[in-house]
Amino acid sequence: MSKKIVVIPGDGIGQEITDSAVAVLKKVSDKYNLNLEFESHPAGGTAYDLCGTPLPQTTLEAAQNADAVLFGAVGGPKWDNVEPTLRPEKAVLGLRKGLGLYANLRPIKVADALVEYSPLKEEIVKGTDVLIVRELIGGIYFGDKCESEIYEGNERAWDLENYSVPEVNRIVEFAMQAAKKRKNKVTSVDKSNVLATSRLWRRTTAKVAEKYPEITLENLYVDNCAMQLTINPSQFDVIVTGNLFGDILSDEAAVLSGSIGMLPSASIGESTSLYEPIHGSAPDIAGKGIANPLATILSAAMLLRYSLDEQEAATCIEQAVDKALAQGYRTPDLYKEGFIKADTKTMTEAVLSNI
Ligand code: NAD
Ligand code: IPM
Ligand code: MN
Repeated sequence: MSKKIVVIPGDGIGQEITDSAVAVLKKVSDKYNLNLEFESHPAGGTAYDLCGTPLPQTTLEAAQNADAVLFGAVGGPKWDNVEPTLRPEKAVLGLRKGLGLYANLRPIKVADALVEYSPLKEEIVKGTDVLIVRELIGGIYFGDKCESEIYEGNERAWDLENYSVPEVNRIVEFAMQAAKKRKNKVTSVDKSNVLATSRLWRRTTAKVAEKYPEITLENLYVDNCAMQLTINPSQFDVIVTGNLFGDILSDEAAVLSGSIGMLPSASIGESTSLYEPIHGSAPDIAGKGIANPLATILSAAMLLRYSLDEQEAATCIEQAVDKALAQGYRTPDLYKEGFIKADTKTMTEAVLSNI
């Protein structure tokens, strides 16, 4: 039976990078007889322009009925002034909520070939292997908001951060299970010296950890964690944190890998999972054909691993990416003299030729 992959390219570089990842998925599908079927749906500003909403019901329903979703990115300056509830970013938030994707996995592993690309010293970056487990459908992103559309200069706006015990329980459980398959260490990141939600987070985490005596639990304040990630990233195994802190720390951690164009993610819930690079629609380079497609290609590998349990095909993609880098191919975000300057298409072809 075929497996249906819903592809949601979105805006900006979204189309370019999902085209690359789909080409790679098609090649491994042929090689391993995976029988994948692809169906493309609009979202983000592109969908807003087409039908007045960033997340058409047909896109959400297609995602809900798929075996897995491959997502590009949404957003861009063209839609910066649309009504807040219709912003392109609402598409990705709506998909996460609509699919119940509470666990966002953002692995940060520095490829040997890229150790020298980080702005940090080689000896600091070498050996980095962190998994950020970000809570994805709670916290300040989804709390009550108050926002006035008319600017008079004296109004107040707010976003409510709130977490319940069951919400914290399930994400910390997820992190503990992930750590069991890794190095048995979980660092929980919060701001419990200031925030009530963080104090609830820390108490709940401690309770969950009692069930996992083999796991070392460490608590860090988010400001210190941000610093530790650049001083000594190898101290981390699994980092578990809330929605907003996870968003910020994962972009920071992306620097360790040399470029945000390298980092994939998997968002997992009760049913269909979604896979997307951690970066955005990169409006500054959109349409130029120079975006790094590797984060999306590696997200496709995660899709095969987690949603379809096709471990061999997933490893094949990851090795093909490593080989393309070892052969010297570099998109402009990672280019240095002496290497092969590759646009999106050339990099994709390099990966394809290694499959
Ligand atoms: P961004 O991640 O799009 O870009 C930040 C910087 O990284 C830019 O200089 C960009 O050129 C570069 N970059 C990002 N991806 C790259 C790639 N694959 N190859 C090479 N360079 C790459 O973040 P931003 O500029 O803050 O946001 C732009 C838009 O994207 C905003 O509308 C934002 O809301 C949206 N966004 C969407 C998602 C998503 O859909 N999941 C994620 C983040 C940001
Ligand atoms: C990400 C993005 C999104 C987020 C935005 C586009 C809503 O920054 O996926 O990291 O904040 O979660
Ligand atoms: Mn982000």
